[in-house]
Amino acid sequence: MSDRIQLNPRKFVAPEYIFGVDSRLMAAAYCQKLGGRNIFIVVDEFIKKSIWFKEVENGLQKTGLEYHVFSSVSPNPRDFEVMEGVNACKENKCNLILALGGGSVMDCAKGIGIVSTNHGHIHSYEGVDVIRRPMPPLICIPTTGGTSADVSQFAIINNTTEKYKFAIISKAVVPDVALIDPVVLTSMDGFLTACTGLDALSHAFEAFVSNANSAFTDLYSLEAIKLIFSNLPDCINNPGDLQARGKIMLASLYAGLAFSNASLGCVHSLAHSLGGYLDLPHGECNAILLPHVVDYNFNSAPDRYVKIMQTVNLPVNSNTTELKKTLTGYLIGFKNSVGINTTLKDKGVTTDITTILAKRAIKDPCNATNPRIPVMEDLRAITNEAL
Ligand SMILES: [Fe+2]
Repeated sequence: MSDRIQLNPRKFVAPEYIFGVDSRLMAAAYCQKLGGRNIFIVVDEFIKKSIWFKEVENGLQKTGLEYHVFSSVSPNPRDFEVMEGVNACKENKCNLILALGGGSVMDCAKGIGIVSTNHGHIHSYEGVDVIRRPMPPLICIPTTGGTSADVSQFAIINNTTEKYKFAIISKAVVPDVALIDPVVLTSMDGFLTACTGLDALSHAFEAFVSNANSAFTDLYSLEAIKLIFSNLPDCINNPGDLQARGKIMLASLYAGLAFSNASLGCVHSLAHSLGGYLDLPHGECNAILLPHVVDYNFNSAPDRYVKIMQTVNLPVNSNTTELKKTLTGYLIGFKNSVGINTTLKDKGVTTDITTILAKRAIKDPCNATNPRIPVMEDLRAITNEAL
């Protein structure tokens, strides 16, 4: 492994974030600090019934701030839900958005923010750096340990007409503040913990081998990988273990900072295609795809993958074919150990739609930073192998 560092110019963007127990309780104070008068709270129906939501409401009521609650958000958030949210935000004259939830809720909140100040349809903001005006202040409180939309320059929305998930990538969608509290993870079940943890692992892997990696993102990627392999099983076996939950929340934050700045790769371009076409869970798709994409990429970035292997103490004294087998085998064993044993076939994918999926995935901007630039046929082949 060469010890040369990446010296091409690289920037690093991150919001203000507060990490730690009870940081969620600072929501009302931050609404006041950021000039909020009427708060537009974005949640989903599940979170709306939670104690975490009650606490946010109580905090706002104590400060006397007005608020309006919007909860029409699905997993893989839909374009029409964003537009519905914009109308509700405008009708209620809200001037600050507070997202409490997982990636879907936070992405929907970002979409609402973008459209409420830029006034076009959400579809018109697809792509990299196409947003002209800043959105209203946005505070995010993530309730899962994986998506990291609370610190990222990404928002992923489902185009329900064309049935694909599109990426909005811009500094304009970085929240103003993220309140990252590991306590909220204690209410996640084992399967959701595994899926979101594997999403974070995919972020860290893809950022580390990305063509846009940097010395800063490398630090975060490798530490995230170490933390996830060491602590995700503990979170599942002991859901109330706050130390383990804290380490996974920290890993999610690190992986988020890494991918927000180094971008992603083919795991995500394919997962976006699967999520949009078949409405499949994002984290589970990533978990299934990651070993197959590592297999596809390995020879294009062997040093980077060896560095990952050294970080988690895997043996590295063999030829490239053996190394690749060791790493992909380790990934498969790990995802199985946390309860993700499915294949894409189990999720309803059949050979007759893999071409459609690949045609959609090849348009995704995440391919641009994959260490091996794919053509459509490559993405089809990866999907077929994951069946
Ligand atoms: Fe992801």
